[in-house]
Amino acid sequence: MAAGQTARVPRHVAIVMDGNGRWAKKRLRPRSFGHRAGQKAVREAVEFSLRRGIESLTLFAFSSENWNRPATEVGALMELFLKALDKEVDELHGNGVRIRFVGDLDAFAPELRDRMLGAMEQTAGNSALNMNVAVNYGGRWDIAQAARQAALAIGRGEFRADELDETRLATYACLADQPPLDLFIRTGGEHRVSNFLLWQLAYAELYFTDTLWPDVDQACLAEALDDYARRERRYGRTGEQVANAS
Ligand code: FPP
Repeated sequence: MAAGQTARVPRHVAIVMDGNGRWAKKRLRPRSFGHRAGQKAVREAVEFSLRRGIESLTLFAFSSENWNRPATEVGALMELFLKALDKEVDELHGNGVRIRFVGDLDAFAPELRDRMLGAMEQTAGNSALNMNVAVNYGGRWDIAQAARQAALAIGRGEFRADELDETRLATYACLADQPPLDLFIRTGGEHRVSNFLLWQLAYAELYFTDTLWPDVDQACLAEALDDYARRERRYGRTGEQVANAS
């Protein structure tokens, strides 16, 4: 690796899986058809991550704002999540994948929430890959829940309010026990982060592709990783400082 370049393989990759609706529209099919096709791309991303030795893969499956979509689409997505849990969890478990749902799970129907909790419990001992599925998740929600937890800890006398700094607050944010986020990928051509992982994005590399999520395959993900490997991560330092330090 050349001086100043980043480690070749990102330890933690997050993906905004955008473009299912447009993919379906191009085929004159309902949006739910696109979401179902998107499930295949999720499998591709998991397989790719396992093959490349990525430690954590975080997927944005349902944002806090997605509840505002038409009821039929929300219903179809919930149905899809339930079916995916029934169909995929055993195989993921067999492949050593640890599944975690991140977000406010209280809003989901008890049947779905119980299956999510069951999948987390079943796979809790696995370590080949952390697969984090963000559902009813929002970056601002995450920061607010971290602040709330810190405030409660202060109330319990665990530390003083003037001792609350970035490092301590970070321990309450989602995914705090996993490697820092290295690479953020958004498919579907939009160039925005849409309230995903706001805290964790601080030093992540951003990669955008026009490919619609259902069309994403291992070659497309390999391109993202190749691009990442060419980046120089400076964390506020100059290029010369980074080169001299490595
Ligand atoms: C965004 O595309 C996609 C979603 C809101 C849902 C993502 C869900 C899946 C990929 C289904 C499978 C997931 C799991 C974890 C089993 P969009 O609908 O906003 O597309 P558009 O921008 O083209 O309208």
